[in-house]
Amino acid sequence: MSNYRTDKTDVIIREMHQEDVDAVSGIEKTIYAFPWTAGNFTDCLTSGYRCHVLIRNDMLAAYGVQMPIMDEMHLLNLSVASEFQKLGIGKVLLNFLATDAVRHKASKMILEVRRTNLAAIFLYESSGFNQIGLRKNYYPASDCREDAIVMEMSL
Ligand SMILES: CC(C)(COP(=O)(O)OP(=O)(O)OC[C@H]1O[C@@H](n2cnc3c(N)ncnc32)[C@H](O)[C@@H]1OP(=O)(O)O)[C@@H](O)C(=O)NCCC(=O)NCCS
Repeated sequence: MSNYRTDKTDVIIREMHQEDVDAVSGIEKTIYAFPWTAGNFTDCLTSGYRCHVLIRNDMLAAYGVQMPIMDEMHLLNLSVASEFQKLGIGKVLLNFLATDAVRHKASKMILEVRRTNLAAIFLYESSGFNQIGLRKNYYPASDCREDAIVMEMSL
């Protein structure tokens, strides 16, 4: 188990375990119109992806899932429970995931984000990500499909 603590926000970041999946998928359902299922998180754990949770005041407040491919770390999921958003937690977890990616010999992080998700895009840009592409109609949406912006950060 890898623990991480930052004085600034008084949080602990540790590896996600199967026992966390109910809480994680519970948060997921409340913040996404098209959430990952509990099975998706279990698959990530069993596939050996880098899965972490952030604990604040003994509550699971945020989580991140990264998939290593060669020297790239693909950020598949970064989520903060709604009651903990805009407190700096997303930024702290993203910084931790970048450090974790470096530790695992990645030279870059790559992610996709809905082009309308301005909060996430702002977070990624302010953390050093740049847009490197666009995937047309990548995501499901309520009445059509939505484009994904592909972003990359050198580590
Ligand atoms: C996107 C998300 C991860 C941001 O996490 P957060 O903890 O709320 O973000 P932070 O408080 O760390 O803020 C980080 C930066 O983003 C900005 N930001 C956060 N929410 C914002 C919003 N709703 N609108 C505009 N900017 C926003 C903050 O101003 C901050 O910038 P600063 O450091 O210059 O002040 C969070 O809103 C979330 O989980 N959303 C739902 C799931 C999601 O969309 N995940 C990303 C999928 S790609």
